[in-house]
Amino acid sequence: MAPSALLIALPALWACRDPNAGLPRPYRTLTVPERVLAPSAEVRRKGRELYLRNCALCHGEGADGRGARRSALTTKPVDFTQRTWCGEATPRRVFHAIREGVRGTAMPAWKALDEDQSWDLVAYLLSVCEKGAEV
Ligand code: HEC
Repeated sequence: MAPSALLIALPALWACRDPNAGLPRPYRTLTVPERVLAPSAEVRRKGRELYLRNCALCHGEGADGRGARRSALTTKPVDFTQRTWCGEATPRRVFHAIREGVRGTAMPAWKALDEDQSWDLVAYLLSVCEKGAEV
């Protein structure tokens, strides 16, 4: 392979391996709080409570994307129980979506929630993959 081809291929390979690639730098290197990685029942409960108050309208009480607002939305709310999502979600990516929203969709930036609350939501959403939506 020509050296110039390598220069192109290497960053591309690297991007495949880092699931947080594509995030703006401050989000890519954030310190993820310990409680997010192995959330206690208490943290999950706090996250679930925030979730029901702010998110279930679109993402559904069962976190399966089937909230009341779903049918009115062109880009459907994410189903957090889905295998594909579970496989790709990382704490930093979920945190970024909550803090900044998803441009071009109904997903707003949750500036009214503070960072601690956002991490509790991250902990809860990532735990749904393994433990289901109920706490
Ligand atoms: C008004 C409807 C609505 C509300 C309320 C809402 N969302 Fe969303 N959400 C969406 C839509 C639509 C998307 C975009 C789906 C896509 O990009 O395919 C989305 C995407 C996301 C994503 C990105 C998933 C990914 O990995 O691409 C996360 C995480 C998320 N929402 C979490 C939340 C949380 C947490 C709350 C509550 C604090 C919330 N959402 C409230 C509609 C909503």
